[in-house]
Formats: sequence, structure tokens, C-alpha cells
Amino acid sequence: MKRQKVYIETYGCQMNVADTEIVLRILTQSGYTHVTCIDEADIVLINTCAVRENAEQRVVGRIATFHRLKRVRPIVIGVLGCIAEHQREKMWEIDDGIDFIVGPDEYRKLPSLIEAAQRGERGIAVQLSRVETYEDIEPLRTEGISAWIAIMRGCDKFCSYCVVPYTRGRERSRSLNGIIKEVENLVARGFKEVTLLGQNVNAYRDGAYDFADLLREVAQVDRSLRVRFTTSHPFDMSEKLIDTIAEYPNICNFIHLPVQSGSNRILELMNRTYTVEHYRHLVHKIRERIPSVALSTDIIAGFPTESQEDHLMTLALLEEIQFDGAFMFRYSPREHTKAWSMFDDVPDHVKIERLNEIIELQRSITLRKNEALVGTVVEVLVEGPSKKSPTDYCGRTETNKMVVFPYTGQAIGDYCSIAIRSANAATLFGVDEKQVQPSSCIAQERSMVL
Ligand code: 5AD
Ligand code: SF4
Repeated sequence: MKRQKVYIETYGCQMNVADTEIVLRILTQSGYTHVTCIDEADIVLINTCAVRENAEQRVVGRIATFHRLKRVRPIVIGVLGCIAEHQREKMWEIDDGIDFIVGPDEYRKLPSLIEAAQRGERGIAVQLSRVETYEDIEPLRTEGISAWIAIMRGCDKFCSYCVVPYTRGRERSRSLNGIIKEVENLVARGFKEVTLLGQNVNAYRDGAYDFADLLREVAQVDRSLRVRFTTSHPFDMSEKLIDTIAEYPNICNFIHLPVQSGSNRILELMNRTYTVEHYRHLVHKIRERIPSVALSTDIIAGFPTESQEDHLMTLALLEEIQFDGAFMFRYSPREHTKAWSMFDDVPDHVKIERLNEIIELQRSITLRKNEALVGTVVEVLVEGPSKKSPTDYCGRTETNKMVVFPYTGQAIGDYCSIAIRSANAATLFGVDEKQVQPSSCIAQERSMVL
């Protein structure tokens, strides 16, 4: 029998990317083939994000496109992930072109849902689990040098604006041994970098082991493997974790530490469980212990009741902390969350204005930080050809900065020393140090030519 072809589109965070790799393993194990061109597909899946309304609108738009395809030839359409969980009734009722809806903890049911759909039965599987971690399923990764590893699922933090605890359920961790085996396999296959993923990695637990223990064990698998992790919640970031990052050179000196707001009143309404003072103190400790650390953050503009004064406090905090980068969002009310029942009283145009001010300030800080690296030499893990220029290669520093340099034979997965010549807010530009001639040689060459 001809193998059926599955196409999948992924939206949202890295956790969704990691989930898509699990879905692909489940399906290929059941005899399906993965295709990257929608026109070849018998089964079209969309792995969705519900964190903000605009993410949801994009997905609804894509599903409409899939329907047009379905009028031309028979395909099965499945909606996966956070929207499937969050908006299941709405999706189900308004859209009878969707064959099945499946939440993040029910992916093992995909093969039977597809078979049922092909018999003309619509299906829905959105039970959340307290134990499912897909521990036994090795994600189907595209070959490369970098791998995402979900070490835990769910979130128990219940920040008042956030839908994740409702779409992904309660926190649960994979076993330390299982994760270490996965890392060993990846190293044996030639991967050079792993990123440990969780909504709040600091909540990782396997018996007596905490996240710092896991990080240490992963770093020890191979000292040349770059180890990253995301996301850390400022409330649970322990000294032990900071010490572990400082101790192992292959644990990247880069921490994503979302602060969300610079106002204590707003932080309390957000149920973030820390104050600006706590956050400031934490950053101070981190920088003291790891002087070369780069920090990034998340900011939400226009949370309910946010005043101009609160907004100015956020700007002041950004100015004070000097993050290397930030993801910045305008508040988007999400059904089921605690903030949903608060009055969304900051008008859209004010949210946009505040967000633009935040983006502008952070852009200038990032630019300043990047420009400070001009004239230095940075170590880069080579990722491959640059997207924008065919004659250049690119890679990242351990502090997660993108570096572009002329291709002169570097191999993907190699570490190179790149001398930085210029920078903008998104990218550093340089040349491979091996190609840089000392200035005295250049002078000699010139005088010969002259
Ligand atoms: N509105 C705007 N931003 C949000 N985030 C999460 N929920 C919302 C929301 N309802 C942002 C937070 C979080 C990041 C992943 O997304 O900043 O850290
Ligand atoms: Fe959402 Fe807060 Fe959990 Fe992050 S820590 S996923 S923002 S509830």
C-alpha cells in the first residue's frame, strides 16, 4: 500500500517545535511519510499557539487556506497544540472542515484519529495529563547541529495573563537518565548544541535532582557540547544554578529571564511572585558570578490598569539592567486566565505607543552592546550559509548573538574565532581570524605593491 504523506506547520514557541518532532516520530513509526510540501500531502496538520490573539488569528487564516485545498482533493486536516486545547469548542463548532482536534498531551492518538478521519469520522482528543512526557519517544529531528530537548511539560505558575497552564496542564518532568541518554545519542550523531526546554526549567525535578543537577550532568556528557536552556522564572532561579552555569565553560553564558514589567504593582497583578528589587538583586548576583553573561527578557506593554507611571518604570528598568535582547509584546487578553476578568482598560493605541517606546529603547541598548564588541574576537559555532548573503556563513556566540562572516571553507559545526568589524542591533559582522593578517603583514604587502 502507498505510504500516506503528512505535512505539518508549526507556530509559537520552541516547545511546539519540539512537540512537532515528537508528532513526526509517532506518525513515521505508524507508517506515514513526512513531506515538507503541502501539495504532496494526504494529511495536513497545524501545531498551534494560543499565547496571544494575533498568533491565533494567523492560525485561523491558515486553516482557511487548507480548506480551499480540501475542495480540490481529499485531505485530512488536523489542528494540534495550544489552540486545539484552548478553543476546542469554538473550533469544533464553527469549522466542520477540521477533521480532528488534538491537545498537547494526546499525540499518541494521532494515528487512530487519522484513520477515523479517513472513514469520515471527526475526532477530538484534548485530555490533559499529569504524567505524559513522551519520555519513550525519540523526537524525529532534522539533521543539523542544534537540538531542542523538552525536559518538562506544563506550568504551575499561573501568571495571571498566561494561557499556558490551561493549554499545557500541570508541570511534570522527564527522568534525568532519559534526558542524559538522549544527549549522549545526539552527541554520537554529531550534534554540537542542545537547548533544554521547559516553560519554567527551574521547576525541573526528578526525585532529589533539580535543574542545576540536570544541567551539570548534561554539560559533563561532552565538554565541547554547547548547552543552553530556556525559560527561567526569576522567582526560582537558585544560587546553585548560577554557580553551575559559572562552573562549566560549555554551559552558555546566556540567560533568558523574563521580567515582564518594571512596576511592582503590575508584577503583583500579573502574579509573578517577585518584585523589581528581587529581580535587580538576582541580576546583580548573576553578573557578579558570571561577568561575561548576556541576559535577555520578555516585556508585556499595557497590562490592565498599567498607568503611564508604571510604563515609565518599565523603561527605567530596561535602561538600568541593559539587557542584550528582549521579546516585547502588547498585552492580549486570553480567555480562562485570571486577567481575562480584569478590565482591559489600556486602549490599543496606548498599548502600541508604549510597546513602540519599549522596542525603540531596547533596540538602542542592543545596538550599543553589539557595537561594544567591534574590535574584539568572538568564538562562533558555525551554523551554515547566511540567509541574506550567499557568499557568507553565519553562527552564534555563546551569548546567542548572530555573527555573519565571509565563507572561506569553514565547516558547519566547527568553532571559529571571528574578529568583529561592524555591528547592527541584530547582527555582528566579522572575518575569520585565521584569514586576518596582522597589520604589519598588510603594510608590507602594500609597500610591495606600491
Ligand atoms: N499577552 C501578551 N504577552 C503574553 N505573554 C504570555 N501571555 C501573554 C499575553 N496574554 C508573553 C510573556 C511570556 C512570553 C512567552 O509571552 O512575556 O514571557
Ligand atoms: Fe505562562 Fe508564567 Fe508559566 Fe511562563 S511561567 S508559561 S508566563 S504561566
